[in-house]
Amino acid sequence: MTKRIIIGICGASGSVYGIRLLKALTAHSIEIYLTVSTAARFVISQELGYEGETVSGLVGSYGGQTSHAATIHEFSPDDLSAPFSSGSFQHDGMVIVPCSMNTLAAVASGLTGNLMQRAADVSLKEKRPLILVPRETPLNRIHLFNMGRAADAGATIMPAAPSFYSRPQTVDEVVDTVVSRILDHLGITDNGFPRWDGIRG
Ligand SMILES: Cc1cc2nc3c(=O)[nH]c(=O)nc-3n(C[C@H](O)[C@H](O)[C@H](O)COP(=O)(O)O)c2cc1C
Repeated sequence: MTKRIIIGICGASGSVYGIRLLKALTAHSIEIYLTVSTAARFVISQELGYEGETVSGLVGSYGGQTSHAATIHEFSPDDLSAPFSSGSFQHDGMVIVPCSMNTLAAVASGLTGNLMQRAADVSLKEKRPLILVPRETPLNRIHLFNMGRAADAGATIMPAAPSFYSRPQTVDEVVDTVVSRILDHLGITDNGFPRWDGIRG
């Protein structure tokens, strides 16, 4: 069966992480389900200068065109009737990237006030992979507590903390050091990203 992945984009800084992940996923034969919070729409407009109708519309044009094997099904954050709002919808993983402290708190508390929070809650109860990519600094005790609580419930906490051993030269290359780790955790093989293979001269 074709893999199904749910992506949530929150209003934390680093919206480019979500866009680069979507771009990487579209190169694969995967069904992608997307929901973008209202705050994220604003942050995207500030960080990426994009105000289009749908965020999936940005993915094709960002950083040059790529071949698209996948279609992105985008749902409004208010659309609680979306397929992935239900535990009967089978999927292979959900990623919230970037994940705001607001949505982290909701997920850690079992709140389901919008489609993204509901889908995350459902993923946890159905024991499906849920990857949270929080972005905030510094972290207060409440943030740390909420990360611990979400991890205890089964989520993988994968902070937006790039690596530099591949000597990235551009912002997109820095961002992709995080994107490639997310793909690894989704079980999606993508050889387009560098890996550490020993000491460099
Ligand atoms: C420019 C901008 C940058 C922001 N960066 C962050 C951030 O890095 N982390 C965070 O948790 N919230 C950040 N926020 C605040 C969130 O957008 C806010 O808490 C919002 O309620 C999150 O809603 P959501 O979880 O539904 O996306 C930022 C807001 C703005 C306007």
